[in-house]
Amino acid sequence: MRLERLSDTQNLSGFLCGVKALDNWLRVHALENQRRDLSRTFILISDLDEITGYFSLTMGGVCTASLPPSLARGLPAVDIGMVLLGRLAVARKYQGQGFGRDLLVAAVAQAARAGQHAAARFIAVDPIDQEAFRFYQHFGFIAIPGDDDGRLFLRIDHALTALGLPTDPSHRNLSD
Ligand SMILES: CC(C)(COP(=O)(O)OP(=O)(O)OC[C@H]1O[C@@H](n2cnc3c(N)ncnc32)[C@H](O)[C@@H]1OP(=O)(O)O)[C@@H](O)C(=O)NCCC(=O)NCCS
Repeated sequence: MRLERLSDTQNLSGFLCGVKALDNWLRVHALENQRRDLSRTFILISDLDEITGYFSLTMGGVCTASLPPSLARGLPAVDIGMVLLGRLAVARKYQGQGFGRDLLVAAVAQAARAGQHAAARFIAVDPIDQEAFRFYQHFGFIAIPGDDDGRLFLRIDHALTALGLPTDPSHRNLSD
């Protein structure tokens, strides 16, 4: 398996994850969004050169009032840097084999690297459905109480620890 940044060399046409909106976005919008600096997309490619999965990231900010209270505590009332994991999907034939976790690990590592250059405290996700909501909760993402399909947040340093990645910036290669 290898992770590549999306380019016009990859054949995305056969990607099927079971959620049409996520398939279509990859095929139709991902490259154009990347060209316009609206998102960055990373593709996991199998040894057979099949698209195994992908995720996309965008930098953003969140005001403390829009955070789950447990994450807002002690923060100033200004926009706090975050990285939005806009989309993440694994091709159907590769689901249930740990690749979703691998993509999340890669996304959190990228978010942490971005945060070393332009401070980001949180990684946020917009789950596409209840299954996705549960997937992210499984990894510790926190919702606003009572908001069962809205945006979920996780502190990047907590995500690094939970996923077994180093948290000391000196352990990371910033030129990656
Ligand atoms: C949700 C999705 C990304 C999971 O990927 P996957 O490769 O099947 O998941 P993995 O095999 O890596 O599972 C990793 C862990 O998450 C858990 N998990 C997987 N899907 C889950 C779900 N829907 N709810 C709760 N936990 C889930 C697994 O049990 C596993 O647990 P473990 O770490 O305790 O062993 C994948 O099923 C998918 O692409 N679905 C369609 C698109 C989608 O819903 N994307 C979500 C983001 S918008």
